[in-house]
Amino acid sequence: MPFVKVTTLADLPLDSVLEVNLADSVYALCNNQGTICALSGVCLHQGGPLGQGQLAGGRIICPWHAWEYDCRTGESCDRPEARVATYEVKVDGNDVLLRIP
Ligand code: FES
Repeated sequence: MPFVKVTTLADLPLDSVLEVNLADSVYALCNNQGTICALSGVCLHQGGPLGQGQLAGGRIICPWHAWEYDCRTGESCDRPEARVATYEVKVDGNDVLLRIP
């Protein structure tokens, strides 16, 4: 699948998380100290909206019950067997593009 523009850097400031809905799927985009990454926006615990969570120290924190995931790998920080999907992203000028599976 090709890359699709999902937001701009202006809407994804340093150390922030953004929820993106696209093609019936939800994604969480992170700006981890200037590196953009994308994960599934659905928490593995009870389906909380990771894209509405917070980013701290490279971890995305679910807003519902505070499960944490490494924003680069999608691995749960507390439960190594749990891992949300990650997706390829790239920045083109001010645009943030996501490769949709
Ligand atoms: S739904 Fe994410 S921690 Fe519970």
